[in-house]
Amino acid sequence: MIALASDHAGLELKGVIARYLDERGLQYTDFGTHTAASCNYPEFGLKAAQAVASGQCERGILVCGTGFGISLAANKVRGIRCVNCSEPYTAVLSRGHNNTNMISLGARVIGHGLAISIVEGWLDAQFEAGRHQDRIEMISRYEESGV
Ligand code: RB5
Repeated sequence: MIALASDHAGLELKGVIARYLDERGLQYTDFGTHTAASCNYPEFGLKAAQAVASGQCERGILVCGTGFGISLAANKVRGIRCVNCSEPYTAVLSRGHNNTNMISLGARVIGHGLAISIVEGWLDAQFEAGRHQDRIEMISRYEESGV
């Protein structure tokens, strides 16, 4: 299960991503927003991030105007590793090296075609573990203990 969330600025692109997931037969839960009315990205980004952190969803895709605000919110949830991507190379490496469990996209930054290439690359990439696992554990230890 993939968690989706956006604010009003990301609503249209989130719909494009949802249709792409439908085409691939991948299931998702849309944590909102569901209307074009102006809203606050942390509300929806945090809901999706909590669903990923709890295991309800395996991964998540977030969209706001730049992709930054909603990723900042998501990364406040313990266990979330979310990066903002504007091209596929970063998205693929964020999975391979950083084991990202969420990505965010900027609907006012990239077009629909590029967004789908990013999502496709990220969904298909595999975490490489090894030395990258040690580095992620350093972050997790800090998150747990503050040192
Ligand atoms: C909304 O206007 C905009 O600030 C939001 O979508 C996002 O870009 C914030 O980071």
